[in-house]
Amino acid sequence: MSDTTESARPAPAAGPPDALLRQVLSTVRGDDERLRELIGGLVTHLHAFVRETRPCEEEWLSALDFLVRTGRACTDRRNEFILLSDMLGLTSAVDDVSHTGPAGMTPSSVEGPFHSPAPARPMGAWIAEGPELGRGEQAVVHGRITDCDGRPLAGAVLDVWQANDTGLYDSQDDEQPDGNLRGLFTTGPDGAYWFRTVKPASYPVPTDGPVGELLRALGRHPMRPAHVHLRVEAAGHRPLTTHVFAAEDPYLDSDAAFAVKDALVAPFAPGGEDTARRFGMDGPFLEAEFDIRLAASAAEAGGTRA
Ligand code: BEZ
Ligand code: FE
Repeated sequence: MSDTTESARPAPAAGPPDALLRQVLSTVRGDDERLRELIGGLVTHLHAFVRETRPCEEEWLSALDFLVRTGRACTDRRNEFILLSDMLGLTSAVDDVSHTGPAGMTPSSVEGPFHSPAPARPMGAWIAEGPELGRGEQAVVHGRITDCDGRPLAGAVLDVWQANDTGLYDSQDDEQPDGNLRGLFTTGPDGAYWFRTVKPASYPVPTDGPVGELLRALGRHPMRPAHVHLRVEAAGHRPLTTHVFAAEDPYLDSDAAFAVKDALVAPFAPGGEDTARRFGMDGPFLEAEFDIRLAASAAEAGGTRA
């Protein structure tokens, strides 16, 4: 045996996969082809990361300890790993590669950790039923749910959830009744939807765990720009989870979760008299208009994914 076998590994050098990486990749076996692709890719990129950044052993152990603490911070109600993925832009990257679609489709955006079952409400109902109604800026959010050619979708179910004027969801705030600032609405033949609420505020993601520690170490703020979450389901169409962001928000360009897309930004602008009459608003209010266009499901689109 020559002394240049793979077990006598040469000193690391830049360039093609080194002997160690080749050895590891040769153990990536099994019947599941996709698992082999994913683990092979992960190992290849992680080895390249180590070769490039050359962490010392202390740094590597500290990274592993961070992951252990991230796991320990998870409970039934909190997933610190999802938060880590959000804060590194990975949830948005997976969202990007998972929801490509035809031109005109409303872009998707991350779901976040605050979705919970919402009460069904009649179209136009108030979703603000807590103390925020007496102090927040009243707002009407409205638009049309259509296909990508602008044809209205009747019977579409819109699920909305948002934080209040202080940036808290009902699940984070004892002052809010359960189901506050949430609602399920079903469209009629014109595909129109509308609901009355208060303008949401920007808010910080949870920072009392290891992910908060990382944000502080990186000099990053934890803020998400003000937004309303929307999830839409309509027969024959791909479900869509997205946000509408308030155009005036100072954190639009630095969302801690990297989830803002231009097409998802709408002004919450002062509403006029016609709008007040149309939506039954009394006193000063803001109006946000946001149309939602869904892509046909693969079966409806002739079996191809657009
Ligand atoms: C949210 O908008 O609810 C959210 C998204 C990502 C991380 C934390 C919160
Ligand atoms: Fe949110």
